[in-house]
Amino acid sequence: MKKVFLNLLKQPITNSYLSKINKKTIKKEFFYNLSVTYDNKTHLVSLSKPVNPKMQFTDKYAHRASQSITMLKSFKKISKNLKKRFKPKKTLEIGSNDGVFLKNFRKKEIIAVEPCLNLARITKKKGYLTYPEFWTKKLSKKIFKKHNGLDLIYAANTICHIPNLREVFDAISISLDKNGVFVFEDPYIGAVLKMNSYDQFYDEHVHLFSLLSMSKLLKDSNLRIFDIDLLDTHGGSIRFYVCKNISKFTVKKKVKLFKKREIKQGLNKFKTYKKFSLRVKKSKKELLSLLKKIKLKGKKVISYGASYKSATIFNYCNIGTELIEYATDTTKNKQGKFTPGKHIPIRSPNGEIEDNVDYAFLGAWNFVKEIKKKEKNFLKRGGKFICHVPNIKLIGL
Ligand code: TMP
Repeated sequence: MKKVFLNLLKQPITNSYLSKINKKTIKKEFFYNLSVTYDNKTHLVSLSKPVNPKMQFTDKYAHRASQSITMLKSFKKISKNLKKRFKPKKTLEIGSNDGVFLKNFRKKEIIAVEPCLNLARITKKKGYLTYPEFWTKKLSKKIFKKHNGLDLIYAANTICHIPNLREVFDAISISLDKNGVFVFEDPYIGAVLKMNSYDQFYDEHVHLFSLLSMSKLLKDSNLRIFDIDLLDTHGGSIRFYVCKNISKFTVKKKVKLFKKREIKQGLNKFKTYKKFSLRVKKSKKELLSLLKKIKLKGKKVISYGASYKSATIFNYCNIGTELIEYATDTTKNKQGKFTPGKHIPIRSPNGEIEDNVDYAFLGAWNFVKEIKKKEKNFLKRGGKFICHVPNIKLIGL
């Protein structure tokens, strides 16, 4: 049974940056109520009512995975490791974005699946076989017919976006070779609870996974987990190594130990999630109080990164231009637009943070190491970052 534990109020679609602010665009903006549930049968944490994926993954999709050095490095490392460990001859990526993972493979060795047409066009142009579609059983059958069984299927920050997980995993079962592996990574619910990073909940993150939930869900599609990794990416992610029930892989000891760790953290109990929701409320109160205090002193505050995650914070905490003057973002097609819901203007960073800025809210807190390196001058002249995880705090030199 699913039970709501968190209510993040009215939220827009995070990827719907507004080009103009006027009566018409404001009236047209879509909002939904973002509440989060825990299912005591599967241990899965999901949004109560997912938004229609056709409204989210359009030909205007803004996020470009290759724009962060951290992610470029991460994809390079994982592709090298996967090639060494599994020696795949035929690989497929679900949710290939702008090709940041694909580029580590030879063109004839990899197939891309990407429903956002603007992104699919990018990888097609680069010469990768790209299916501009959602990952479904129908597509998987088509791919199996054409290419036979796949040795490796990979997905990063994609599977948690898909409402119907049964369809995803059944589709994997169809085109995966008997001894093929399915490797996927997504933000980890254990890290969200630990870091109080409630901004991991937004329309695209339909679910947040644990080992406990994933072990149960994969069973229905005759799949099983044989290994896992915990990652730093996106503020704490989990990577699952999955195979068919009948395959040769033996389960690593680490998997059993990790399950015990999750039980100790209470990931199988509703009350753990309920307690988290109280910490979220406290975080909102403290962030608003800090921003108001800084503003009263006449200081200038911006947001570093107009990330999807920050949209959850700004809309939940009701933070607009009265508290945050503008946001900077390196993503070209966010620049010149306005953040969804709260309509904070987005600028190009133009090098470093401007001299007259006193505080920068870390909208992209998951890249804090990369950002601190880039913004040494800001810190040297006394500038401070505002960070909301794990507690509201200021980061200086
Ligand atoms: P993400 O957490 O969903 O990847 O979003 C991070 C956003 O932050 C993305 O739009 C790019 C932006 N960003 C910057 O503007 N400057 C930076 O230095 C980094 C690392 C990210």
